[in-house]
Amino acid sequence: MTTRVLTGVTTTGTPHLGNYVGAIRPAIEASRKADVDAFFFLADYHALIKCDDPARIERSRIEIAATWLAAGLDPERVTFYRQSDIPEITELNWLLTCVTAKGQMNRAHAYKASTDANEAAGEEPDHGVTMGLFCYPILMAADILIFNAHKIPVGRDQIQHIEMARDVAARFNHTFGAGRELFVLPEAHIEEHVATLPGLDGRKMSKSYDNTIPLFEGGAKAIKDAIARIVTDSKLPGEPKEPDNSHLVTIYEAFASADEAAAFRAALVGGLGWGEAKQQLVQLIEREIAPMRARYETLMANPEQIEELLQIGARKARAIATPLLQELRHAVGLRRFNAIAKPADHAEKAKGALPLFKQYREADGRFYFKLTSHDGRVLLQSEGFDAGRDAGQWVGKLKKEGAAALSDAPVSLGAGVAHDDVAAALAQLAAE
Ligand code: TRP
Repeated sequence: MTTRVLTGVTTTGTPHLGNYVGAIRPAIEASRKADVDAFFFLADYHALIKCDDPARIERSRIEIAATWLAAGLDPERVTFYRQSDIPEITELNWLLTCVTAKGQMNRAHAYKASTDANEAAGEEPDHGVTMGLFCYPILMAADILIFNAHKIPVGRDQIQHIEMARDVAARFNHTFGAGRELFVLPEAHIEEHVATLPGLDGRKMSKSYDNTIPLFEGGAKAIKDAIARIVTDSKLPGEPKEPDNSHLVTIYEAFASADEAAAFRAALVGGLGWGEAKQQLVQLIEREIAPMRARYETLMANPEQIEELLQIGARKARAIATPLLQELRHAVGLRRFNAIAKPADHAEKAKGALPLFKQYREADGRFYFKLTSHDGRVLLQSEGFDAGRDAGQWVGKLKKEGAAALSDAPVSLGAGVAHDDVAAALAQLAAE
């Protein structure tokens, strides 16, 4: 069975080397596995929660799309699309909003972080909090559930959101599924073996620490300049270094084979100078990144090529999302009126579910009747009559008088049938 793996990236920034090593490279590697059906999307509705600068949104969307393509994402294999091209996501967002407890959203980390910061600053707890931020976990659940994705590779900070998506999916299944699993319950997948890349100062590489190494922005020169600023100890060339305490080594290892990493460590222990070590690191990173940078620049110069790929991706994605949403609308009662059963249909259908009198003639030439339950069990069996009319009269009497006529009627109960069963069946017929 193939596993559907889905990843989204919020389009507010420009990818740096830490994003490449920590998210982009492992996701692309995973998407190449034979048993994986990968979905990758630009979470541009999520970007609007954090950013009200249209120019930045526009730039980030195209940069991130070009980055992933340049880094080797194969749009033939992977369903690659923009969130905002899939209207079914926002429709589902509303259906989910209506089954999500507000109290649960109160506890979402992203929202809590804002209210905590406000309280610490002496502000109203909800100061500056939009409904977009408050409801963000629901939109994320819609992203995941609309494609019935199984596995969501995320950082630890996102685990709570995947749990909320599971919860809301389970509630929706329970409320509207009528015993069916409308939604798959997604699972968070934490890449344990992918180390987070340290930044120039040794803390996690992050824009908010201003310690990043650019990926494609600024070309090879920008990488070289950033690496020159990596903080090291002040040991001189010729002095033995301690590779275990060096984040420069950690960055090196993110791009090196095991043999190369061992040789680099040995050279440092043997006195390799930091300046020389940094040059080797630049070369190593360039070996992997330079060919991608060339593809990136071509793509950025031809945005219409990216647009076309994303349009194809949106069609592929909607081929899955549209029928599911149709089913969901039906499940919650948003149905076309011409699909509603007419009253006459109801009567027809109900008829099949009622007990039934049957009159017939046997090979002995005599006339009989029997009463069967809605599921075909024989409730009553008559004796044989010489005339069909007599059988008919008894049927009429039983229908009209119900159980009261039973004691005189020339009938016997079916095997294992109680008097009360017959009485109930006759009452049901009388009520018709
Ligand atoms: N919220 C995620 C982040 O900030 C991005 C995202 C949006 C996402 N929708 C998603 C990730 C669905 C995985 C699945 O990183």
